[in-house]
Amino acid sequence: MKKSLLATGAALALGVGIAASAMAQVKPDVLVKQRQAVMTLQGKYLGPIGAMMKGAVPYNADVVAVNATFLENLARMPWDGFQPSTAGEKTKAKPDIYKDMAKFKAAWETLEAETSKLGAAARAKDEAGVRATFGGVAKACGSCHDAFREKS
Ligand code: HEC
Repeated sequence: MKKSLLATGAALALGVGIAASAMAQVKPDVLVKQRQAVMTLQGKYLGPIGAMMKGAVPYNADVVAVNATFLENLARMPWDGFQPSTAGEKTKAKPDIYKDMAKFKAAWETLEAETSKLGAAARAKDEAGVRATFGGVAKACGSCHDAFREKS
């Protein structure tokens, strides 16, 4: 069950190709809603792990394994929604994204790499590994927001 949640490299490459070719028909306001929805879910699944890291709630390895695996998958989803066509929409995404796509892509690749490490440790029920990798995920979220998201 848990293994089936994991996309293999091949399935992932295929998925990205399909998403990219289907995207042409998606309206800019819908792309914004979709990417914001993925971001919201990332927050949903990161939050409880963060609370456990701080000791605010007891550590639960099963919850961490599920949440980290969802995060690992979610971390691959929002990026094809950041199209220049969305620059005029109501959004917190800074237009700088479309001026420096390489930097934005590097930031999302960092999140993908960090969530993979967290996911592997979480599924192995390796609490020390989760504690060692969580900070890298949180930092990947925060540093992209600092660079590319408007402050509210
Ligand atoms: C590569 C850049 C990048 C990374 C990495 C990233 N975000 Fe975001 N995030 C954004 C941008 C840009 C927006 C603004 C999107 C918009 O308004 O269209 C955003 C918006 C959000 C929002 C607000 C969504 C809404 O409905 O307005 C949340 C919550 C969020 N991110 C959580 C996270 C979490 C949690 C992580 C890490 C697990 C993360 N983000 C990683 C760029 C990033």
